Amino acid sequence: MARFSSFIVLAIALVSSTTAFPAYQSLGGLSQRQIDSIMPGLKAVKPKDPPPPLKDNGTKLVNDAKHPWKPLRDGDKRGPCPGLNTLASHGWLPRDGVATPQQIIAASQEGFNFESQIARRFTYSSHLIDGNLVTDLLSIGAKTDKTGPDPPAPANPGGLNLHGAIEGDASMTRGDAYWGDNWHFNETQFSELLEFMDKYGDGLYNYKVAGEFRYQRIQESIATNPEFNFTGGRFFAAYIETVVGANLFSDGRRNDSQVPADAARGFFQDSRMPDDFHRAARPFSTEGVEVVIGAHPFSPGRNVNGINTYTIDPNSPTFESDPDGCAQYEMFVNEAVVPLYPNPTGVLRRNLKINLQHYFDTFGGKCKQLFPYGRDH
Ligand code: HEM
Repeated sequence: MARFSSFIVLAIALVSSTTAFPAYQSLGGLSQRQIDSIMPGLKAVKPKDPPPPLKDNGTKLVNDAKHPWKPLRDGDKRGPCPGLNTLASHGWLPRDGVATPQQIIAASQEGFNFESQIARRFTYSSHLIDGNLVTDLLSIGAKTDKTGPDPPAPANPGGLNLHGAIEGDASMTRGDAYWGDNWHFNETQFSELLEFMDKYGDGLYNYKVAGEFRYQRIQESIATNPEFNFTGGRFFAAYIETVVGANLFSDGRRNDSQVPADAARGFFQDSRMPDDFHRAARPFSTEGVEVVIGAHPFSPGRNVNGINTYTIDPNSPTFESDPDGCAQYEMFVNEAVVPLYPNPTGVLRRNLKINLQHYFDTFGGKCKQLFPYGRDH
């Protein structure tokens, strides 16, 4: 719960300021009185079903005439995910970086060939924690300029930038939240990634480089971040993101999950596809993650008492102990969602149930469904 406290302080500050509550800001952690005062200013929406998997799911030109890269405008939001940043900067997502879950899933599928089940799981988990469940809008990050009513970057923990259940430590190209900026591109870390690409990948980013760099970033966080936390969903996401980058930033005509250095810089730093970029040759999910883990098998845990005090958490699931994801599912619902929304009412309660159902559906019926807010919606 402690990890949500700074968010709650910020949310309360936003509520009590004269600024209108942003339509994409999460209501998690607010009191019923605060929510009641915000509700009249929000346009309540019943979430639509997620889009189906792609029918035509081969490679195609996606940096096309309809989706040119454009520079950021004042107010546009970007965050810790280079995939979503790129989709927004090419107009596959609204260029301002605020979108519905349906738009995020559709854009990830169309623009990159992200596989449907994982696109839905990433999106609904993120939306449940970081999105506004009444308006059905999620911000992929924070304003990239210093204008407007939101606190200036990097202090603004809006949207996906919120550190905790979704955004986490030991990212490849973003710093740990402990240092104050968990979402801007970090040149020092990227330079180190380039060195690893030269050493282990003949200048390319691939599974082997990902395996070595993932381990290196964990070791760095253990040695420098007294609050390093590598438990729960973060453990899984940290490994999966490394292969999503290899599989989806690789041009579909190569079809080898390898990414040249200049293309990697384009995605990670500038939210930009290479000229003539073709999406992956087929839908990709977590292919390659076993290679990354196999390079340096590691267990979830945290620094319990300052730097270099990494202690394994035996209660945190792993790829081996939780192959179907049921422990992750239960942990997410009980420890992340319910504490943020202990007693929701009305539209908020209905939309929580709808989004929780979409999230549960990504576990393929293998887990026992939880109904913290009742069954019907
Ligand atoms: C489907 C919806 C998606 C959501 C909600 C999402 C969300 C996120 C978030 C919150 C992070 C930050 C995690 C962290 O490092 O702390 C992240 C990282 C990342 N995402 Fe996404 N993502 C999505 C789709 C994609 C797609 C389609 C791609 C690739 C085309 C992608 C590639 C990556 C990579 C490579 C990272 C790691 C960045 C780094 O460690 O420097 N994601 N994503």
